[in-house]
Order: sequence, then structure tokens, then C-alpha cells
Amino acid sequence: MKHWYLIVGAVLVSAMLAPNLGVAQTYKKQTIMAASANTPGSNHGVLLNRFKDIVEKESNGAVTVKIYLGGTMGDEVANVKQLRNKELHIGTLFSGNLTPNAPTANALCLPYLFTSMDEAYAVLSNEDFLKELADDVAKESGTRPLGWMIGGWRSITNSKKPINTLEDMQGLKIRVSPTAMQLAAFRAFGIEPHPMAWSEVFNALQQGVVDGQENMYVTNRDNKFWEVQKYMTEIHYMLWIGAVLVSDSWYKSLDADTRALVEKAVKTAQNEQWAAAEKVESDSKKLTIDNGMQVTILDPKEEERWKERARSIWPDFVKTPEMKSLSDKALAIIAAMPKK
Ligand code: MLT
Repeated sequence: MKHWYLIVGAVLVSAMLAPNLGVAQTYKKQTIMAASANTPGSNHGVLLNRFKDIVEKESNGAVTVKIYLGGTMGDEVANVKQLRNKELHIGTLFSGNLTPNAPTANALCLPYLFTSMDEAYAVLSNEDFLKELADDVAKESGTRPLGWMIGGWRSITNSKKPINTLEDMQGLKIRVSPTAMQLAAFRAFGIEPHPMAWSEVFNALQQGVVDGQENMYVTNRDNKFWEVQKYMTEIHYMLWIGAVLVSDSWYKSLDADTRALVEKAVKTAQNEQWAAAEKVESDSKKLTIDNGMQVTILDPKEEERWKERARSIWPDFVKTPEMKSLSDKALAIIAAMPKK
């Protein structure tokens, strides 16, 4: 289904590296500092470890990668500042957690923008869109996305009761990431959400500071949320899209060969993750159910109500020329996709 994106990606990576083919590369000895606030088995951990394998192997050990996982370098929003300051060189995070420092990344978080993962693959394979987004994000945050991870839909979990309707959610304390878009979306759904750093979420659920949160099945699996959550509702409002960011000033300071190696390693790891994503997501859903969580899928008519509410916040976010340009491009790419 999405294999043509992978083929296009592979061709582009090869083309990018073509001038260097057949020439033995020598790389300056250096250590790349990488971090994620997530577990080793998460999409983040898998991608960074694959990045490390490729970089170390292809540089014959001249370039080494030191990875800090599990939030040892702080939460996702903090990682963006560390990248800007070159305390870190590469980091991965949920795109929403990039938006406090790079509001234009909201172009990927507009609720109900995507109706399938294939649409996200199409948008994030479009070179024109990618370049514009990367340049905007770099200007705003001092960090540059070199790749993107695509997980599953962000679904709501909670410990109190099944959510079948907007009304069922009223009164529940739901954590969202500390981002304007998610706060606005949940306010449009009629509740006052609780913004909280990602690294605090499990404890807050365990201690009952909040009743629930929203994330994809894979995150549910990584954090064994079933130990502290009983109910999950698929509302399909936002895809979990993760940014693979580098420190822009560090990236620009690299010599051409090292820069090409970093780009290639990110794209290869990204493409492998894209190829596995749907299976990882469906296996995680199965594990969620096997571990006792009760899953609700919104009735299509009810989902329309959620959609209408959440889409009402778009004008508040599509205000700047950057957001207008990127959201128009994303919509045009989606509209041009072959109809099934
Ligand atoms: C969040 O909810 O803050 C993120 O989805 C965490 C993540 O990066 O998986």
C-alpha cells in the first residue's frame, strides 16, 4: 500500500549520496549525543538505536553515538532546548511537544487533518512540504527535523468509565501534552484538560492526579498503561507523529560527509519504522486488550460530533503565513492521493 513512499524515499537517499559512491569515506572522530524521554523498546528507542548502528558501522567507529533514554535528559520539551544549545545533537519527540518552541509543527497536529496513516506517509514523503516545514521549524526552534515517525491514532484512556460520547468524558481529568493545540481541542470537546510534561504522566495516573490521558496503542504498550488505566476510546482525532530532530547549528557545522551520513542514517531508520508501523500498532492494540483494557470505538455519527468541535479550532491555529502555507500544502497532497 505505502510501499511506493519507501521506494521514493530510498531513491532520494541514494541520489543524495550518489556523489560519494565508490569513494572510501573518512570521518572525523566524534561522539553524537542522542536522547529521548521514552523507553528503549519505544519507537523513539528503536529509531535511535538503529541510527547508532548505521552511523557507527558506516564510519568504522570514527563517529560514535551515545544514547540517553527514559527521560534521563529531561522531558521532551526540555530536549528541544538542549538541542538548540548543542547539549544534545539528536533527539526524538512527539511533534506536539515540539510546538511550544516551533508553533509551525502544529501543521501536523491539526485535529482530524489526517483520516489514515497513508495520508501522513504521503505528506511526510513530499520533499517540498518537508523542506518548508524543516526550514520553518529550524527558524523557530534552532532544531531541524531530518525525519518523522508515524505511529497510530491518539486515543483516550481513563480509569473511571467507558467513553462512548462527548458527554461521557465530562468531569474526567484528562492529561494532554502541554501544547496549545491539544488544550484547545479538549476544550472544544467540552472539558478543561490537564497539561503535563510527558515524564510525569505514569505517576500522575497511578496516584489519581489525573483520570486519563491520550496516546497511541504503542505508547500504551511501552508504558504498560493497563496497570493504571481500564478504558480506551478511539476518537481518531490526531495521529502520533514523532519528530527526529537535530541541533540545527551542530548540523550546519558538520562536514559534508558526516552530514550525509547522519541524514542517511535517520532516513533509513525512519523508513524501516514506517514499514513496521501498522503491525507494531495492531500488535500493541492486541496487547492492550489482552491486558484487560476495554476498547471503545466511537460510533461514526458520534465521531462526526467530535470532529465538528475539534475542526472549529483550526482558524485559531491557521493564522500565520507559515501555517497557512503548510496546511494548504498538506491538504493538497491528501486531495491528490488516489481514491480507494
Ligand atoms: C506525549 O503525550 O507527551 C507524547 O505522545 C509522548 C511520546 O513521545 O510518545
